[in-house]
Amino acid sequence: MVDSRWVVLWLLFLFFSYGLLGAAAASAGDGRFLYSGFAGSNLDLDGTATVTPRGKLQLTNGTVQLKGHAFHPTSLRLRRNNNATVRSFSSSFVFGILPAAPGGLGGHGIALIVAPRKDFPSGIASQYMGFLNKTSNGNACNHIFAVELDTILNPDFHDLDNNHVGVDINNLTSVEAATAGYYDDVTGEFRSLTLISGEAMRAWVDYDGAAKRVDVTLAPAGVAKKPRRPLVSATVDLSTVITDQAYIGFSSSTGTLSTRHYVLGWSFGVDEPAPELDVAKLPKLPPIERPKEDVPKILLTIALPVVSGALTFAMLATCVLLLLRRRYRYVELREDWEIEFGAHRLSHKDLFHATHGFNPKNLLGAGGFGRVYKGVLPNSGTEVAVKRVCHESRQGMKEFVAEVASIGRLRHRNLVQLLGYCRLKDELLLVYDYMPNGSLDKFLYNNNNAHHGDNNNKQQLPALSWAQRFQIIKGVASGLLYLHEEWEQVVVHRDVKPSNVLLDAGMNARLGDFGLARLRGHGAGAELQTTVVAGTFGYIAPELALTGKASPLTDVFAFGAFLLEVVTGRRPIDDGGNGGGGTVMLIDWVFEHWRRETLVEVVDPGIITRGDQYDVNELSLALKVGLLCSQPMADMRPSMRQVMQYLQGDASPPDLSTAAQHMGLSMLALLQNQGFDSYVMSSSSSSSSSMKRLDTSLSTGR
Ligand SMILES: Nc1ncnc2c1ncn2[C@@H]1O[C@H](COP(=O)(O)OP(=O)(O)OP(=O)(O)O)[C@@H](O)[C@H]1O
Ligand SMILES: *[C@@H]1O[C@H](CO)[C@@H](O)[C@H](O)[C@H]1NC(C)=O
Ligand SMILES: *[C@@H]1O[C@H](CO)[C@@H](O)[C@H](O)[C@H]1NC(C)=O
Ligand SMILES: *[C@@H]1O[C@H](CO)[C@@H](O)[C@H](O)[C@H]1NC(C)=O
Ligand SMILES: *[C@@H]1O[C@H](CO)[C@@H](O)[C@H](O)[C@H]1NC(C)=O
Repeated sequence: MVDSRWVVLWLLFLFFSYGLLGAAAASAGDGRFLYSGFAGSNLDLDGTATVTPRGKLQLTNGTVQLKGHAFHPTSLRLRRNNNATVRSFSSSFVFGILPAAPGGLGGHGIALIVAPRKDFPSGIASQYMGFLNKTSNGNACNHIFAVELDTILNPDFHDLDNNHVGVDINNLTSVEAATAGYYDDVTGEFRSLTLISGEAMRAWVDYDGAAKRVDVTLAPAGVAKKPRRPLVSATVDLSTVITDQAYIGFSSSTGTLSTRHYVLGWSFGVDEPAPELDVAKLPKLPPIERPKEDVPKILLTIALPVVSGALTFAMLATCVLLLLRRRYRYVELREDWEIEFGAHRLSHKDLFHATHGFNPKNLLGAGGFGRVYKGVLPNSGTEVAVKRVCHESRQGMKEFVAEVASIGRLRHRNLVQLLGYCRLKDELLLVYDYMPNGSLDKFLYNNNNAHHGDNNNKQQLPALSWAQRFQIIKGVASGLLYLHEEWEQVVVHRDVKPSNVLLDAGMNARLGDFGLARLRGHGAGAELQTTVVAGTFGYIAPELALTGKASPLTDVFAFGAFLLEVVTGRRPIDDGGNGGGGTVMLIDWVFEHWRRETLVEVVDPGIITRGDQYDVNELSLALKVGLLCSQPMADMRPSMRQVMQYLQGDASPPDLSTAAQHMGLSMLALLQNQGFDSYVMSSSSSSSSSMKRLDTSLSTGR
């Protein structure tokens, strides 16, 4: 029990000590305050500022381009008399800035301000932090002292970064500023802090009236005591800034990104350190929201500005770069040895105009060599496809251009006609006839898992009828036969696959990219007599993978895979969907059905659901030819001439059961036996990447 006499004595002591210390002590107590949370407080709030039910002071609520203010209701007595110097004062607060999404995007920040007023109707949000505007910034009549916790780099105000603390006098260009962080008391090391981390942090603002110095110190909210070394020290005489009647409070604003600014506790003292805040008793910051159902909003508020900003920047940067490089880069290279191919040269200017400056709108697609653009040649009005091929090595260029020139002399109704080329510093432009119906791969694959990432391959086109497919198969066979046997020298295509088969206006197949595969060998290794196994996995014959030697028979193998693909609508390597699980080689799967005499089951359902007539005999003939071409043993495969005869019914294919004895070993087993399982595995690990390129350097000494 407390004796009541002690209480009386205590009260008397208080009374006298108060009286003895006099007016100075009385006014020292004047400004002092401590908010451990803001529940029940009578702060003056405006704009977006509110006190949440749990007692957090929320300065901004996540809505963009808004400001909020919160002021201690009564004015401070910072001078003993009017016109006297401003006394020492100190303020401390715990704050938190929540980004729009994890990752720390947002803005603009919080300012602790001492000003003659509590309302700032003409203060602008975003970079003006809600208390200044373009005309008032820098004006000495503002009489504003502020400490900014700024999360945006604004070059107008010479901000040093997007995460800094600054001392401001009437002007958002800070007198002194430093990157957010603190100095460890023990080691003296600087430890940086991220203001917009969603973590609670504590700040101290101390003005020494005698030394005329402002110190700002920052620390994580969990640090027990104020670090000894301040983060920012500015020598400023606040006597010339702060008015006789002054208020203290917070101003905060958002910019184009949703951000929430909170203050959890706040204290202030004159001629004494700011009263200690017990961080454990303060309200807690809300966790950073993970975007879930809010995705569209997040997209609009962050992704859109960021992406469009980045795009604008990228475009501007590209324009500048292009302008700078254009003169150098678009110099066409012509050398003596090219004169003999002169007829095929096209000017860069024409091609540039033809494609509207390689406008992305003209982009037809992108492949392993580069992008392909649609264009109209200015003189003739011919529609063309311009393929941009990057090249670095001058070595091998002559050889390649010679090859291009000879390719230009190839003419066949099932080949995409090469019209000409143009050679630049680090780019080669190949000009082909334009094929209005694009590449065949877009018409295949009902399972809707187009392999290339580019947009052109994503659209799902109606399934082709059997008649169309058979015509395409025969067309490709005829084109290959021409390359292998009907021209003056043997040309190996090296990359037969649906994406290299283009369709003209009459849906006739035209083989593209012939000869190009050799370009892949023209690199650093060219002079080392190394060649690169070029082609696409699933179409590469076993002997090609082993020796690196391409031959007409490796083309026949690829044609077999292609043929089975056109009939079944499936990729050469599939990692499921056949009920079997695991990697399935299309060849094995078709062969298995042939053995069980259930060949009809492999036919692309797209053909059947179309409902029109198809010849079952033709179908099984095609499948049979496909299997014959796909035999692992090269010398068992037919030549393209034989293939053509089988397909046209001029000869009947040999009985598959004799081939079957040689086939005994499955394709998958064969590849695995020969150590190719790593390819098979990596190709099948993701179904859509089963078309992975196989570019393996093998020494061949060709
Ligand atoms: N002559 C053309 N006419 C119309 N479109 C074309 C023509 N040539 C190419 N394209 C389009 O451009 C795309 C890319 O062609 P490209 O030959 O560079 O790549 P790819 O065949 O998909 O891959 P790869 O480089 O492995 O051969 C094709 O898918 C096709 O849609
Ligand atoms: C934020 O505050 C503004 C102004 O007070 C108000 O219009 C807006 O609806 C608020 N937004 C949210 C998300 O609370
Ligand atoms: C304060 O200074 C102003 C101008 O310097 C002067 O006009 C005013 O009388 C002074 N007030 C007091 C109380 O000294
Ligand atoms: C800027 O603020 C000042 C006062 O702070 C005000 O008088 C002025 O009209 C404002 N200017 C604009 C453009 O809002
Ligand atoms: C704000 O301060 C900076 C740096 O001290 C100065 O260059 C600028 O002129 C000031 N702004 C105005 C409007 O006075």
